Amino acid sequence: MTINEHATCPVHADFDPLSPAFLADPFAVLNSIPRETPVFYAPSIDYYVVTGYADIEAVFLDPETYSAAPAQLPLAQLVPEAMQILLGGGHKPQPSMVSLDPPAHTRLRSPTARAFTPRRVAEMEPRIRRTVDQLLDAIDPSAPFDLVSTLTFPLPATIIFSFVGIPERDWLQLKEWCGHRAALAWGRPTPGEQVHHAKNMAAYRSYLRDLVASKVNARGDDFASALLEIHDEDPEALTHEEIGSILYSLTFAGHETTNYLIGNVVRRLLEDPAHWNVVVSDPGLIPGAVLETLRHDPSVPVWRRVTKRPVTLGGVDLPEGAKLFLWLAASGRDASVFPEPDKFDVQRTNATKTLAFGKGIHYCLGAALGKLEAQIALEILMRRFPRLRLVEGQELSFHANISFRGPQALWVRATP
Ligand code: HEM
Repeated sequence: MTINEHATCPVHADFDPLSPAFLADPFAVLNSIPRETPVFYAPSIDYYVVTGYADIEAVFLDPETYSAAPAQLPLAQLVPEAMQILLGGGHKPQPSMVSLDPPAHTRLRSPTARAFTPRRVAEMEPRIRRTVDQLLDAIDPSAPFDLVSTLTFPLPATIIFSFVGIPERDWLQLKEWCGHRAALAWGRPTPGEQVHHAKNMAAYRSYLRDLVASKVNARGDDFASALLEIHDEDPEALTHEEIGSILYSLTFAGHETTNYLIGNVVRRLLEDPAHWNVVVSDPGLIPGAVLETLRHDPSVPVWRRVTKRPVTLGGVDLPEGAKLFLWLAASGRDASVFPEPDKFDVQRTNATKTLAFGKGIHYCLGAALGKLEAQIALEILMRRFPRLRLVEGQELSFHANISFRGPQALWVRATP
């Protein structure tokens, strides 16, 4: 890793989170960066990269100084045609609550939290169990199978789309739109790809607007209907457009994040079958295994902020408008918080300190649901296939984006 001193901020000229080497093994890149530079500038993306646990936590806890505005901003500069398609389709630069600051953030977060009740999450448990069983019933365990296409990808989509109240006939289309969204905001698409993604995102927004309209007079026991009830109490406090924006948050956030979390848990447990065997023999360790994976190899490895005023962070003077690449995955490897950070240890006692769900006013609203899905998936998988193993010699591949990471396919076999 080349380092140049640039004013008071170190510059890592060859740091590129979308390079094939980084996508294949970001932790090898992390370990090549000197610990003395916990904040550095990366010209490849025009962001300041923040790696230390305490610095990232401080950023999350200070929304007065650090705005959430770039959270979903396309990493690459969009061509005018793509931008026009997005804006024409009702898309905004800060398209939903995760990239809004108070008071606009509070306006959306409060009704979402009200409708996203612990009761509603707890009621998902039987459905999660049923769905995992159905998906595993469809597998032929006498041959190797890909756990991503058979379980980790369809499970969270089924759960979140039914929770929100999306008709089943539209699930496939929604999944496809989520893929376009990940590539446009967090990848580096070519101009032609940008236009293609933008058209799909405009269609996605328009679908959600129509869905809200269609539910006005056809309510169900679902999240979208619960938001409409809140709208009925005071239509000015939560508009139909805002409900569409909340659905835009959940349909995406409840899907790839959890798909990759489950893939990462199974991968890390099976990389050394001793880990898998320990948890099989003591299923009480399952919640710890999920948390340890969130610390060791989080499915959302990076989140973004921008400074609202000049500030010093990690010993580096940052100007107003400095875009921050909060490397959550690196914070999980911070030895000052997690001893022997590169070791995967399902019995680690402080994995709960992980910043994988953020912290503060934007703390992930779906954390309980995501963990529940991963725990149930693991529990049933271990009960049905206690001798599960990775197919040897497979090379894992990862979607080329900065913020959502998990294997695109994970080949396993049910018997050694
Ligand atoms: C299971 C893996 C998941 C991970 C690792 C994850 C991670 C995150 C992160 C890092 C943030 C940003 C926090 C911040 O800016 O401080 C976030 C926000 C959010 N997440 Fe999750 N998430 C997961 C699952 C889910 C699920 C299942 C849902 C929905 C059902 C969800 C809904 C949300 C929402 C709505 C926000 C925005 C909250 C706000 O801005 O106030 N997430 N999540």
